[in-house]
Amino acid sequence: MRTQVAIIGAGPAGLLLGQLLSRAGIDNIILERSSADHVLSRVRAGVLEGGTVALLDEAGCADRLHAEGLVHNGIEIAFSGECHRIDLKRHSGRSVTVYGQTEVTRDLMEARAALGRPTIYEAANVELHEFDTAAPYVTFTREDITERIDADFIAGCDGFHGISRRSVPTAAFSVFERVYPFGWLGVLADVPPAADELIYARHARGFALCSMRSPTRSRYYIQTDAADKVEMWTDDAFWDELRRRVPADAADRVVTGPSLEKSMAQLRSFVAEPMRFGRLFLCGDAAHIVPPTGAKGLNLAASDVHYLFGAIRDYFDSRSEAALDTYSARALARVWKAERFSWWMTAALHNLPEQGAFGERLQIAELDYLTHSDAAASVLAENYVGLPY
Ligand code: FAD
Ligand code: DHB
Repeated sequence: MRTQVAIIGAGPAGLLLGQLLSRAGIDNIILERSSADHVLSRVRAGVLEGGTVALLDEAGCADRLHAEGLVHNGIEIAFSGECHRIDLKRHSGRSVTVYGQTEVTRDLMEARAALGRPTIYEAANVELHEFDTAAPYVTFTREDITERIDADFIAGCDGFHGISRRSVPTAAFSVFERVYPFGWLGVLADVPPAADELIYARHARGFALCSMRSPTRSRYYIQTDAADKVEMWTDDAFWDELRRRVPADAADRVVTGPSLEKSMAQLRSFVAEPMRFGRLFLCGDAAHIVPPTGAKGLNLAASDVHYLFGAIRDYFDSRSEAALDTYSARALARVWKAERFSWWMTAALHNLPEQGAFGERLQIAELDYLTHSDAAASVLAENYVGLPY
């Protein structure tokens, strides 16, 4: 097979890039290791920045998002038994949209199918070749037959555990990493949310987050030990722990029910630099990971796609490589600001075992300052709604 852009991975980054390229008349093939159902079964992000929504609009995939997404103008920060609202709209002039990653993925998959563009699911043994030359290609196996795709460019959109970054010699890039000694346990349940807006709660027993997917579906998270396994947490134990960690009035409003899904996520900050190796471009989680506290991972995947799509379009329009040459630097400048924000929000709200009593007092002082100073609240709001592209 021959295409202009071979995309590895059909997560949000790969599907969004594919959609923008297809609408610009640029041919692309997506190779995905898992089945479409498996991709859709992964419950992850829930909060979209305005820039991500605009990009989904540009991709022609935002009708359902506009009809069903919940526009939020504020978030609650809870500590010392009380909730404090940060007015995102007042402090930044912008809002965020609560709309699940699964729904974004479903909309992108349907749009791709409507355009008749190929996604090869359950592609095994994907390998990247010759991307340091002008003639890169990808091989994979399907039903025990090895196939080959020649392309002008390869977009590595295959997430943190993907093959794209691992295909690059380790001497060719630098890694910056912090692994946190705790994880998040998430539960999805068909119960009405405890509040109209998200509650990010700091508690001595650990962080808790009250989120939602719709007026009848809630998403909750609690901080757990990194070594905890999903099986160690019954639904009842989860609900009890969640209610202990949020202020009493919010705890009273938590409606419990059987979990539809329950999963653990490790918390990690990670950046691989650069994001370009010849004709291979990394995008999204393939190049960087943030702890989920600031709701930035999917949104960063979207901003990478914005930069990469523009650069590839320029190349095919005018054979200019200028934007391809600056892709990595432009993407990384935004990535690092989101890394900083996600690290800061994680440190401000989690129980950090090594910090001791002094660190705990500083944490309370920081949250008190954040929720009582317009200047501090503006800094949070500007970052939370998403820095400009
Ligand atoms: P992925 O979604 O990981 O997609 C990569 C795809 O590549 C996968 O489908 C995978 O199967 C495929 N693949 C892997 N290896 C191969 C291979 N060898 N060959 C072919 N295909 C391969 N982000 C936010 O912005 N807001 C939030 O509110 C938020 N909340 C989160 C909550 C949790 C609990 C978690 C875990 C994450 C959250 N995130 C959030 C982060 C967000 O989910 C990720 O950043 C996002 O999924 C990244 O998209 P991606 O397309 O880069 O990678
Ligand atoms: C959700 C996830 C996040 O990481 C976050 O910061 C806010 C909401 C969610 O899944 O709803």
